[in-house]
Formats: sequence, C-alpha cells, structure tokens
Amino acid sequence: MNLILFGPPGAGKGTQAQFLVESYKIPQISTGDMLRVAVRQQTPLGLKAQEIMQQGGLVSDEIVLGIVEERLAQDDCRSGFVLDGFPRTIPQADALAEILQRCGRSIEHVVSLEVDNEEIVKRLSGRRSCPDCGKGYHVTYDAPKRVDVCDVCGVALVQRDDDREQTVRNRLAVYEQQTAPLKEYYRSQQLLRTIPGMGPIAEVQQRITAALAG
Ligand code: AP5
Ligand code: MG
Repeated sequence: MNLILFGPPGAGKGTQAQFLVESYKIPQISTGDMLRVAVRQQTPLGLKAQEIMQQGGLVSDEIVLGIVEERLAQDDCRSGFVLDGFPRTIPQADALAEILQRCGRSIEHVVSLEVDNEEIVKRLSGRRSCPDCGKGYHVTYDAPKRVDVCDVCGVALVQRDDDREQTVRNRLAVYEQQTAPLKEYYRSQQLLRTIPGMGPIAEVQQRITAALAG
C-alpha cells in the first residue's frame, strides 16, 4: 500500500501513521522527523534547514526531494510506505510521481485529515514527544502513563521548538498558501480520501481504515 497522509500541522498525521505502520506493515516516511534528526546531528543539511523550521517555513524542494528519494530506494519500502508531511508543494508532488514512475510504482490513496484551526492550536500546544523513539503524546488527549515520561523508553518527553503559538500560526499560513492546493491536485486524480480528523484518536483511526477498505 503506497499512501500519503495529508493535512495541516497538528492534524494527527504522525499519530495516525503509527497505527498504519502496525496495521499494514509499511514504514512511515516523515520528512519532518528526518529533518529534525539532521538538525539535532548538525549535519550540513540540518544546518540549512534549522532556521527555516524554527520559523515555520518550508525547507527547499531540492533538499526534501533528496532525502525522500534516498529513503524510498531502501528495501523496506518495497511493500509500500506511508508518507507523512510530504509532498507539501506542487513541485514536490510532481517529482514524487516521477520518482515512483521510474520504478513502476504509484500512489494509491491520499488520506486528507480535516481539523479546524482552534483545535490545531490546542493539539500542538499540548503535544510532547520522546526524544529517543519519537513516539508522540498529548498532555490531555493522549497522555503517557507517567507525566512527561515516555511509556516505551522511560525518558523525559520534550516539546517541539516550532510548537510555540506564533510559529504554529506561521505554519498554518504556509499550509494554506503552499500545501492546501495539493488537495485539488490529488482530487483531480481521484486519489483524495477526505477524513474528518476531529474527535478521539481511535475514531479517526476507524474512519481511515474504512476509507482504505472501501
Ligand atoms: P512536520 O514535522 O511534518 O510538521 P507538520 O506538518 O507541521 O505536522 P505536525 O507534525 O506538527 O502534526 P501532525 O499532523 O503529525 O500531528 P500529530 O500526530 O503530532 O514538519 C515540520 C517542519 O519541517 C515544517 O514546518 C517544515 O519546516 C519542514 N518540512 C517537513 N516536511 C517538509 C516538506 N515536505 N517540504 C518542506 N519542508 C518540510 O498530532 C498533534 C498533537 O495532537 C499530538 O499531541 C497528538 O497526540 C494530538 N492528537 C492527534 N490526533 C488527535 C485527536 N484525534 N484528538 C486529540 N488529539 C490528537
Ligand atoms: Mg508530525
């Protein structure tokens, strides 16, 4: 299954990707997670991306396409993948189609999670994640068993630099301008599955499962 999980910042892409990885036995490819690793390791790519990410802008198509192409070529993507946070611009979507076409593959579904902006701000201000395994939580909606400690690794959870309110607002504006037009792009290819992303995590999960089965 070759999937794109699409939606604004905080819509629940990373959260729902965790269940898709388990149900369909496919890897999650999150460009945001890969870029954050590069920033943490201060690689040349990370140094280029750091400031843009802190301000909530988009890293250049060239950088992002380089990391995605390399990742898709790895063996574990042969049986499928779930792209999370990519593509985010029309040139990225065009380039993805070309990369896949070269190896006889294509996107089967684009799952678009629809969440309103007030809910997004609530979700992102309460988000925490594990610095070791990357598992995501929310202080009230998806709380760890012990306050601020990862259930899996037992280490202290952290908050993302770009989850400050002003940066969240910038990310939402960038999404509206540069990323939302992709919905029409995929709708015209009959690939778009629009899913209401409001309500409990388990309910959104059920809606996605039903849409993928239908
Ligand atoms: P990225 O990491 O992709 O961030 P994003 O798209 O802004 O999305 P988020 O990760 O913030 O949200 P999410 O939808 O994954 O929500 P989550 O599941 O965590 O990108 C970061 C930056 O990297 C970009 O700004 C850009 O600079 C750069 N970048 C990345 N990809 C790029 C690209 N392709 N091109 C250029 N630049 C790129 O959920 C959020 C919170 O809500 C969590 O706490 C969760 O527990 C909670 N939650 C989830 N679902 C529910 C629910 N149903 N009910 C209640 N709470 C919920
Ligand atoms: Mg995410």
